[in-house]
Amino acid sequence: MEKQVCVVTGSSSGIGAATVERFACAGWNVAINYSRNAQAAEQIAERCRVHGVDVLVVKADVSQDQACRTFATEVEQRWGRCDVLVNNAGTTKFVQPHDLEGLSAEDFQKIFGVNVIAPFQMARAFAPLMRRNPGAGVINVSSIASQLGRGSSIAYAASKGALNTLTLSLARTLGPEIRVNAVAPGMIDSSWLREGLGEARFNAQRDAYAAHAALSDVVQPEEVAETIFWLGAGARKTTGELITVDGGFRIGKI
Ligand SMILES: NC(=O)c1ccc[n+]([C@@H]2O[C@H](COP(=O)([O-])OP(=O)(O)OC[C@H]3O[C@@H](n4cnc5c(N)ncnc54)[C@H](OP(=O)(O)O)[C@@H]3O)[C@@H](O)[C@H]2O)c1
Repeated sequence: MEKQVCVVTGSSSGIGAATVERFACAGWNVAINYSRNAQAAEQIAERCRVHGVDVLVVKADVSQDQACRTFATEVEQRWGRCDVLVNNAGTTKFVQPHDLEGLSAEDFQKIFGVNVIAPFQMARAFAPLMRRNPGAGVINVSSIASQLGRGSSIAYAASKGALNTLTLSLARTLGPEIRVNAVAPGMIDSSWLREGLGEARFNAQRDAYAAHAALSDVVQPEEVAETIFWLGAGARKTTGELITVDGGFRIGKI
């Protein structure tokens, strides 16, 4: 039987890397995407090939519409299908919430370009290919920042809120052939926060997060990947939903 195909933006590290590995492990062909770190992307590709699947590595800044369209053409030429698209690539600027002057219009435009406009452009570019396989799924990687209005910056939280709304709109627009859902991870143990906050602040925030969360822990990229896999490969009657994967941070402890 022809292998199914999964495309994941920003899959050279963190959640995206764990996601391509999860699909490859289940026998899917995977397209790995990055914008800067070619070496990391090639390392993830090697880990996926171990599972006997075909791997495509694509350098593309997904905030650029032409790059998204070229990406879709490459996938069509390689496999002639796309069953799952994961819009995972994200960016932020770390700015304390009270520092309103720390965010410029350009910061908002850059953050929205990657976190909101790119998922729209990718969904638009891949929709004709995905419609060939009814039941196909788009999964957008949001954040609990969208529900709490806090996180690395006000611009980041707002962009993820917009991504949640985009998920609802696209779920209606791309149905009935394509399902569109989102995941909202909590604090992830990945280089994103370690580098953004620095090791000491990361450790302090991780401990504070675990002390508050009902499950007493931060979230591993593989745990988000598992939920993404379920939304992509299963969840046949689920669309327009946002699934929170935060270890119970939002509900807190008793
Ligand atoms: N870390 C957290 O605590 C957390 C919590 C909630 C939600 N999230 C969300 O989860 C997603 C993944 O985060 P992560 O923690 O796994 O971060 P990460 O390890 O830093 O991975 C980010 C990925 O995005 C890629 N990327 C960035 N800009 C891109 C662009 N314009 N075009 C294509 N690829 C691009 C990066 O590749 P290059 O370096 O090669 O550009 C990298 O592969 C993001 O959407 C983030 O908002 C993260």
